[in-house]
Amino acid sequence: MRHAPMVITIDGPTASGKGAVAQAVACRLGLHYLDSGALYRLVALQAMHHGYTFDTVLTGTQEAQLAVWARHLPVVFEGDLILLDGVNVSAEIRAEAVGNMASKIAVIGLLREGLLERQRDFAQAPGLVADGRDMGSIVFPNAPVKVFLTASSQIRAERRYKQLIDKGFSANITSLVADLNERDARDSARKHAPLKAAHGAYVLDSSELTLDETVEKLLQHYAKVVGLALNELPVRSGF
Ligand code: C5P
Repeated sequence: MRHAPMVITIDGPTASGKGAVAQAVACRLGLHYLDSGALYRLVALQAMHHGYTFDTVLTGTQEAQLAVWARHLPVVFEGDLILLDGVNVSAEIRAEAVGNMASKIAVIGLLREGLLERQRDFAQAPGLVADGRDMGSIVFPNAPVKVFLTASSQIRAERRYKQLIDKGFSANITSLVADLNERDARDSARKHAPLKAAHGAYVLDSSELTLDETVEKLLQHYAKVVGLALNELPVRSGF
């Protein structure tokens, strides 16, 4: 009998540290990694390249076009590289404007459906760590390990500020806090797959934790769920 690959879902609000934590856990356990937010950002970037703007109301035709892109955009993930139609957009999709556009279009049910199979295809042996907003609730509802990672909006804004500056973008803390709160409100209030902890998720507030401490706590939780001691988990080289 073929076993379903192990899936660990890590959901949470913008800049809660999901990405860094999920990548570290995937690397430590030797599992694949899905950054589902990148898929929403890629569709947003494609839309922006086609003249869609944050401030205009989308027509039905535009929403249908977004759903087509969600299903068919030629995207390749190669290590840290993300290629859209063969072009490296890894840095471009991290801009706040693209994140805001992603959050605007993420309310569209048809678009979310279009991304569903793409996301599920990442669940390959030996397993997957998937980060996003609805990984545990909608995309991988049967995942044995679900985590909801959160942190205060001030701490998240500071982390996002550092990320943006490190990537060469300009940023301002006050407007980042406002942006994060607005994005959280939109993500939590939407009809389709609103941001919330999945049933049975392990809720972890990382406001007072370092990245390593957060990863350690998740690994402890994972070990408990799979019935192993922490020192019995596989150790990958380079971690
Ligand atoms: O995680 P990240 O900030 O890259 O995601 C960008 C936006 O994409 C989020 O603000 C959210 O609106 C949307 N998103 C989503 N569901 C996911 C991942 C991201 O709605 N699973």
